[in-house]
Amino acid sequence: MATKITLTVIKADVGGYVGHATVHDILKQKAAEVLDDKGKGVLDDYHVTGVGDDLELIMTHRKGVDNEEVHKLAWDAFVAATQEAKKLKLYGAGQDLLSDSFSGNVRGMGPGVAEMEFVERPSEPVIIFMADKTEPGAWNFPLYKMFADPFNTAGLVIDPKMHAGFTFEVHDLMAKKRILFNCPEDIYDMLVFIGAPARFCVKSVYSRTLNEIAATSSTQRLSLIAGRYVGKDDPVCIVRCQSGMPAVGEALEPFAMPHLVAGWMRGSHNGPLMPVSVAHACPSRFDGPPRVVALGFQLAEGKLVGPVDFFADVAFDGARQMANELASYMRRLGPFEPHRLPLDEMEYTTMPEVVKKLENRFTEIE
Ligand code: 13P
Ligand code: 13P
Ligand code: MG
Ligand code: MG
Repeated sequence: MATKITLTVIKADVGGYVGHATVHDILKQKAAEVLDDKGKGVLDDYHVTGVGDDLELIMTHRKGVDNEEVHKLAWDAFVAATQEAKKLKLYGAGQDLLSDSFSGNVRGMGPGVAEMEFVERPSEPVIIFMADKTEPGAWNFPLYKMFADPFNTAGLVIDPKMHAGFTFEVHDLMAKKRILFNCPEDIYDMLVFIGAPARFCVKSVYSRTLNEIAATSSTQRLSLIAGRYVGKDDPVCIVRCQSGMPAVGEALEPFAMPHLVAGWMRGSHNGPLMPVSVAHACPSRFDGPPRVVALGFQLAEGKLVGPVDFFADVAFDGARQMANELASYMRRLGPFEPHRLPLDEMEYTTMPEVVKKLENRFTEIE
């Protein structure tokens, strides 16, 4: 039997430089050092990068998903990077490490995780999408377009290996329940839920023809774990491409339309998701607008050949232009919805304090 490879992406904000804008180079160096030193015999390969203020560890190994050794390695890399962040007094140093000690698995401890195990195909193109200043539900729209919309993905019509469609695993993050939708026949039912991305998230997508995992995302919501605001969840998503999966260009195409996502300033505003290169993943205007980076790799016997920084392409200039126009429009609404998130979704809310202060001034309306 062919051996399986696991592709694991784990990310955390362990300190912003400056404010919540970027990851300082020293943090990336430190994390890479840890993966290099302690990763021998554990990892096949790794790539360290930063998107906004999030430190991203892309790793390959043979140990399967939720593996303690791999998760501990990532945790150690974040702890080492946090020490550097503290020395430099970077903003919110250690922000996403919600616990003082590691306990078997980073899930529920703060870092975001997306990982999948599969047999490496004769050619295995993958894209790692990484976003800052938004939340896991931000992937619902693009994943729907990639795997269920024939106007986006020609392969759904043309490719016999895609024509039967894909199965979406959707999580209800509040009720902690999951459901499988078989598309295309369940599309209308599914859209009822994934159109509400603050609560329902596409966790994974499976090919119905190949019976294989095609995409998976991180669905941690820090505030639900910590019970208070601790930064947005700045999600990651892995998509396998070609040969019965969406072509690389079909996986990138949804980002040509910068859809509105929750996040941005103080995790409390809707704004357009702007596709950018790693070099431009430095959200500054009103701490945004939210960014997404797409790094492509060819896997070769577990090695990460790449990356190709896809959104560096000038073909995404139009999307960036549109995102800037939408950002200006939304900013003009100031503290009004729908720029500001609805009250129940606001991460930083003064609402309870204001309500308390004004308690006695509220009177019944007859
Ligand atoms: P402070 O209240 O710590 O300034 O936090 C605000 C902030 O950084 C929101 O992004
Ligand atoms: P991050 O979640 O990226 O740390 O951003 C926090 C924030 O409040 C930005 O204004
Ligand atoms: Mg931050
Ligand atoms: Mg961030």
